[in-house]
Amino acid sequence: MRSVCVVILGLFLVLQLAAQAPAANAPQSRLEWWTQSRFGMFVHWGIYTVPAGEWNGREINGLGEWIMNRAKIPVGDYEKLAAQFNPVQFDAEKWVSIAKNSGMKYITITSKHHDGFAMYGSNVSPYNIVDLTPFHRDPMKELAAACQRQGLKLCFYYSQTQDWHEPDAVGNDWDFPDERAKNFQKYYDEKVIPQVRELLTNYGPIGLIWFDTPRNITVEQSRKLADLVHMLQPQCLVSGRVGHGLGDYDSAGDNQISVGAVKRPWETPVTINDTWGFKKNDHNWKSSRVLIRQLATTASRGGNYLLNVGPTSQGVIPPESVERLQAVGKWMSANSESIYATSPNPFPYELPWGVITTKPGKLYLHVFSWPQNGLTMYGMHSRVQGAALLANRAPVTFLQKQDKANGVAALNLKLPATAPDPDDSVIVLDLAGPLEVDPSLEQQPDGTVTLPAHLSEFHRSAESQAQLDSRGVVERWTNPQDWMEWSFKVNAPGSLDVELITSQQKYGGGWDGQQRLVVAVASQTLSAVVADNGALENPSNPYWPYVISKMGRVRFNKRGTYNLSVKPEDFPAGQMYGLTLVSIRLRPVK
Ligand code: GLC
Repeated sequence: MRSVCVVILGLFLVLQLAAQAPAANAPQSRLEWWTQSRFGMFVHWGIYTVPAGEWNGREINGLGEWIMNRAKIPVGDYEKLAAQFNPVQFDAEKWVSIAKNSGMKYITITSKHHDGFAMYGSNVSPYNIVDLTPFHRDPMKELAAACQRQGLKLCFYYSQTQDWHEPDAVGNDWDFPDERAKNFQKYYDEKVIPQVRELLTNYGPIGLIWFDTPRNITVEQSRKLADLVHMLQPQCLVSGRVGHGLGDYDSAGDNQISVGAVKRPWETPVTINDTWGFKKNDHNWKSSRVLIRQLATTASRGGNYLLNVGPTSQGVIPPESVERLQAVGKWMSANSESIYATSPNPFPYELPWGVITTKPGKLYLHVFSWPQNGLTMYGMHSRVQGAALLANRAPVTFLQKQDKANGVAALNLKLPATAPDPDDSVIVLDLAGPLEVDPSLEQQPDGTVTLPAHLSEFHRSAESQAQLDSRGVVERWTNPQDWMEWSFKVNAPGSLDVELITSQQKYGGGWDGQQRLVVAVASQTLSAVVADNGALENPSNPYWPYVISKMGRVRFNKRGTYNLSVKPEDFPAGQMYGLTLVSIRLRPVK
């Protein structure tokens, strides 16, 4: 048994290493600064901040920087915004210090967004900030200097496929409806390539180029862009959205925090309110608590957190954003050791109380829900030789032993009654040897068992539409032949309520229920319909809570390893989204 355990552990360590290995096309040295920094600032800034979400007195739905597209503004009218764009309050040093003081290590700013307007002095196209606005300054030059001075990396967002200003590019079907008349290659050769060349020639060392929305770009076109970037600046990274998997790292969907088997370095772009580019009526601000927890959660899953600000047409980062970034900065000043240069959670599953990051010899427990009677962890095989609160180094009393009741290796931490930091109290564990954990799914000390979709054995039929998305969620499960199973350990026998946790579609706004499923475990079967029986906080996205469906109750008579399967019994026909399964949760009966 022991040797089996060691083999599994070994295998798990190897898998962990593989999970962090850089992509084949990115030399380690190019990625190093980036994976170590974990936290960057996204800046969406352009002439769309003049209308700021309103056109002809009408509020335009959707993202601020998409106003030209959403309101179908003719090129001739949109161009006139340039004359009104005069960001006299722009202060590059101030922007960079806002980023720096919040703990961010790089700034990725829109050099040209989908509207096609270059926010730098371009010789390729006169449609740019220096030539067409009364401002006449090149903010990218000023940011490059400020970043150099303050030690942050400057990175450029560049929209390579969509350019609503150009008749040959993708996206503008109101001025240029004739698709057959379009010559994308011409736009690509005459604007994209030379502009990317300018960006990598005139602004000093650039950390990365953040290409976006590849759409129908060809493999050759994506590859040529990536090669151009690497040729001009071998250390410069190429974002995942260059297309065809040719980036140096993966980009998660907007506002999506990936979970589970992410094999390559990755980044998630996140908004503080709902828009990227400034909109005067968007006041849906996330709290600093959400931001701090998202940052820690992203790091715990091995990703980078790219948090957006949308400065106004005056050049001011909204005070609501600054306030929140300051709060994140305050947390970072005491806890950044648990973020920078960390490796992800060594357990393949999430913990019920928060998230984990690691460094050689250290484990950082980010406690989000403060437990009442101390914190107990199972599955820690490494010997702990010290524990303390990271923020003030106050020692934490701990005990590591085989739990008498169930024989499980348990680590107990004695904690103060209230959370020292209600946003995220970090406890650092000092390990005596190499990090070793038991990766098997097991019942947690609070009695719960969580069986995440990405850790299931998913039996897909040949015609299955279902797939594991980057959130670690199985989506588009519409095929009644597909089924799932897990194996897990029960430590505390008794009765448990079985719940099915499902989610909206990746970008929200779509959920299908009413599927009848059969859950089989411990010689018992439950047949139930997926219904909306309540909401569960979605750690990746505060606006789209998960849906809880009650499946029934099962009883475990003794400790041991069990198998649980979920099989369709009756699937309604013609569903658009099908089942979007996050996990199965078993909870002790109160
Ligand atoms: C989307 C939008 C774009 C935004 C980007 C940020 O792709 O098209 O407006 O810049 O997400 O991740």
